[in-house]
Amino acid sequence: MKHLIDPTDLTKEEIDQIVALAEDIIAHRERYQGSMAHKKLATLFYEPSTRTRLSFTAAMMELGGNVLGFSNPQNSSVSKGETVQDTVRVVGCFADIIAMRHPIEGAPLVASEVSRVPIINAGDGSHSHPTQTLTDLLTIKRELGHIDGITIGFCGDLRFGRTVHSLIKALSRYKDIKVVLIAPDELRLPDYIKQDVCDKMGVAYRETNSLDDAIPELDVLYMTRVQKERFLDEDEFDRVKDSFVLDARRMALAKEKMAVLHPLPRVNEILTEVDDDPRAAYFRQVENGKLVRMALIISLMEWKNDPAHGMPEHDAPILNPALHCTNPKCICNNEKHESRFRLAENGITRCWYCDSKVR
Ligand code: NCD
Repeated sequence: MKHLIDPTDLTKEEIDQIVALAEDIIAHRERYQGSMAHKKLATLFYEPSTRTRLSFTAAMMELGGNVLGFSNPQNSSVSKGETVQDTVRVVGCFADIIAMRHPIEGAPLVASEVSRVPIINAGDGSHSHPTQTLTDLLTIKRELGHIDGITIGFCGDLRFGRTVHSLIKALSRYKDIKVVLIAPDELRLPDYIKQDVCDKMGVAYRETNSLDDAIPELDVLYMTRVQKERFLDEDEFDRVKDSFVLDARRMALAKEKMAVLHPLPRVNEILTEVDDDPRAAYFRQVENGKLVRMALIISLMEWKNDPAHGMPEHDAPILNPALHCTNPKCICNNEKHESRFRLAENGITRCWYCDSKVR
């Protein structure tokens, strides 16, 4: 069965197929309206969300299906101490497909290990957000007409921004992608993305802390919010919170065809004076999120019993009692799960669930 926990759970062909299906839905809305009749999507949201949860709900409703779930785990058995695995075992008796958002990294992965229905990761901590990636890819395709060959600048919180991590992973499969990482030192992209994704896949990247210098060469500018809720140290947050702001002056330095994306919510990193600029694509991106989730739900339901669309094969995990993941936000430090590791690039050992370096 196909789950979507990490963008690389989909092959490039499957991603292209989902994006193409979303484009077909846009062209022929009415054809898809009853396609999920009598099917149920459960949205299990252990963390705040507006767009992601409502776009999943709106997507399933437009397909003629139904939606159940919770947006506040305090109102569910989670507050009694139920594990993620037990919760999905239960919800799998009521729903045909589950979208889960969780502040703990690796939670949707352990859920998928016991689930009898497809699990979609709707964001796990600072780790991954693959459905935002599908949204972003559809948006780039619609704004620019192509994904191959683009120069994309990621600006803001590249350390905790899960949407950035997932989009770089997916883009690494496209041709001639150039990445410019625009962030203060404290918010740089984690090493595992640089080494295991960019270096391994041959994605050209450079780091800078000047948006002014980078903006003229970009086809896409991907702005992000500084992720206040992920900081363990409030002083550190205060130092970096206003790092980069996109305004009309900076837009004047950019290409005429550049597209500005932002997963939203924004705080102050894009001034409202940019909203009316035709290159500001972030509200169109929201609508694409619903359309691509319609395409994803249809695809995962179709692929449920199709062996041609299974999960990718990985090397067996390393089980070594001498190793420990030290990430306090990893599932293995929050619920009882066997510690597992994988050997990554440069001989580094990483946690199976959250990708933190352990050795
Ligand atoms: C993002 C998220 O939740 O990671 N939002 C979203 O899903 N559209 C980005 C964010 O919270 O900053």
